[in-house]
Amino acid sequence: MKVILIGPPGSGKGTQAKRLAAKLGVPHISTGDMLREAVADGTELGLKAAPIMKSGGLVSDDLILGIVQDRFAKPDMEKGYILDGFPRTLVQAEGLDKIVGNDGERLRVTELLVPDDAIVRRITLRRTCPSCGAIYHLENQPPATDSVCDRCGAEVIARADDTEEAVRKRLDAFHRDTVPVTDYYKSKSVLREVDGIGPIDEVFERIEQSLS
Ligand code: AP5
Repeated sequence: MKVILIGPPGSGKGTQAKRLAAKLGVPHISTGDMLREAVADGTELGLKAAPIMKSGGLVSDDLILGIVQDRFAKPDMEKGYILDGFPRTLVQAEGLDKIVGNDGERLRVTELLVPDDAIVRRITLRRTCPSCGAIYHLENQPPATDSVCDRCGAEVIARADDTEEAVRKRLDAFHRDTVPVTDYYKSKSVLREVDGIGPIDEVFERIEQSLS
């Protein structure tokens, strides 16, 4: 199963991609997670990406295509993968076509539809675990114990780019740069739209149906 999950910031891509990858036994490839790891490790990539991410802008296509190409060279990608947050520009979509070659015909693209007005509330109340990457929401999906990750016990925190100002900029970037990517996959008849509003389990069922 080779899947792209696409959608605006806070639409639930990370939440659903983790579940889907675990169920299908394939890697979950999140360019956002890869970049956050680079920032935490203080690598050259991380130093370049940190201020761009914090402000809600997009990291350059060259850097993103470089890390994705490296990830695709690992053998675990052969059995399938869930791409989350990539591609998010037309240049990246065309770059992915080159990376996967003929395998591109087997790509399935699911777009999570969530209106902008629901996004800001989802993101400003999100908490994530910096240690294991688990995702929470203070109202919809809180950890069992205040501020403590259920899975690994680390303190859960708000992401540096989860401010209202950065979220609005990320939404602008989605409409400007990523909606053309959804049009690109629509024109190839591989895009399925899924309503991203409702309980997380129900949205997951809809995603599974879109892939069957
Ligand atoms: P990235 O990490 O990809 O962020 P994003 O696309 O903005 O998406 P989010 O992670 O914010 O949200 P999500 O859709 O995963 O939602 P989640 O499941 O967490 O990218 C971050 C930054 O890195 C970018 O801004 C950019 O700078 C850079 N970057 C990354 N990839 C790049 C690329 N390819 N090119 C260039 N730059 C790149 O859910 C959100 C919240 O809602 C959670 O609290 C969750 O619990 C809750 N929730 C989930 N589902 C539901 C539901 N059904 N009902 C109610 N609440 C829900």
